[in-house]
Amino acid sequence: MTTMPLILVTGGAGYIGSHTVTVLQQAGFETIIVDDLSNSTVDVLDGIARITGVRPHFEQVDCCNEPALADVFDRYPAIAAVIHFAASKSVGESVGQPLKYYYNNLQSLIHVLDEMMHRGIAHFVFSSSCTIYGQPDKLPVAEDEPVKPAMSPYGNTKQIGEEIIRDVAASGSALQSILLRYFNPIGAHPSAEIGELPVGVPQNLVPFITQTAAGVRKELNVFGNDYNTPDGSCIRDYINVVDLARAHVKAVNYLLEGKNTQPVEAFNIGTGRGLSVLELIRLFQQATGVVLPYKIVGRRAGDIEQVWANPQKANNVLGWQATETIEDTLRSAWNWELKIRN
Ligand code: UD1
Repeated sequence: MTTMPLILVTGGAGYIGSHTVTVLQQAGFETIIVDDLSNSTVDVLDGIARITGVRPHFEQVDCCNEPALADVFDRYPAIAAVIHFAASKSVGESVGQPLKYYYNNLQSLIHVLDEMMHRGIAHFVFSSSCTIYGQPDKLPVAEDEPVKPAMSPYGNTKQIGEEIIRDVAASGSALQSILLRYFNPIGAHPSAEIGELPVGVPQNLVPFITQTAAGVRKELNVFGNDYNTPDGSCIRDYINVVDLARAHVKAVNYLLEGKNTQPVEAFNIGTGRGLSVLELIRLFQQATGVVLPYKIVGRRAGDIEQVWANPQKANNVLGWQATETIEDTLRSAWNWELKIRN
């Protein structure tokens, strides 16, 4: 029997991480989750096991704790690649607690890279974000668009993270890395076994929509209808989380097969389709048959007017493309909300 490569997934109990572990296991990879459960629960492992038939290895470790992280690497000497999700991700919180964000997000990245470099583990996939483009001059935005000054400490940790990776790769190390720049991940696994678990009042649009539809919130506030867009509301590229997870499997395979031509390559992971907030509300109502109470309020500070991806590089080079429809994606988010409410 041939053994499949072992992939270490930091933050693997989180929203995108858990979907990625699921898809990795379905592709035959063995996985180890390293997660401190600061924004997730151990039950996620059961969900992954119910979908895939295999419970991932799990180590409850904070990647900022270097001795504990080193111990995990020591105990799994066969790690072939690392996918690094572990990070704090609330934009608003990062404005109020910048040091928490710089400490958590950068310290964990530095430790993970350091452990990898000490052990000669070369292959690394990093969770980046379209937030690094700010409001792009050209739409759809491609990977060679300039990085704009970060709008928040969270966004800055993604920019600095990319720079740290480039510097380590340029230092003569063995590092081979892919930076995946996600657009707006939404939805849940179609089985409703795993999904997003926002803590407190959701800041992101789709969890707020599903909670409002479920009656947990009175109504959705639409932040602004006076933008320079066809209906006045902001435009984003909403990417299905399972599609996004599949991009990580493509990235890992691409690195393991040695197909990368440069030590660091960045890819946009989006659908290529921009949808406004008002269009998304309409599509949600259409897809689920649920009426969504909403009202227009003022703009939210720090919001970008419109951004959507040019995903051609990922399509052509990684052989990845988004396949799920927005209707199915919104239904998956709704089914997940119904599941966690019952
Ligand atoms: C936000 C972050 C981004 C992060 C991403 C993770 C900011 C400025 N950006 O993106 O860095 O990577 O989350 O998913 O916070 N909206 C409403 N009402 C709501 C909530 C949102 O109208 O109650 C609107 C927003 O104004 C925006 C759109 O919905 O136009 C999407 O918002 P959100 O889901 O928070 O994502 P982003 O702001 O695009």
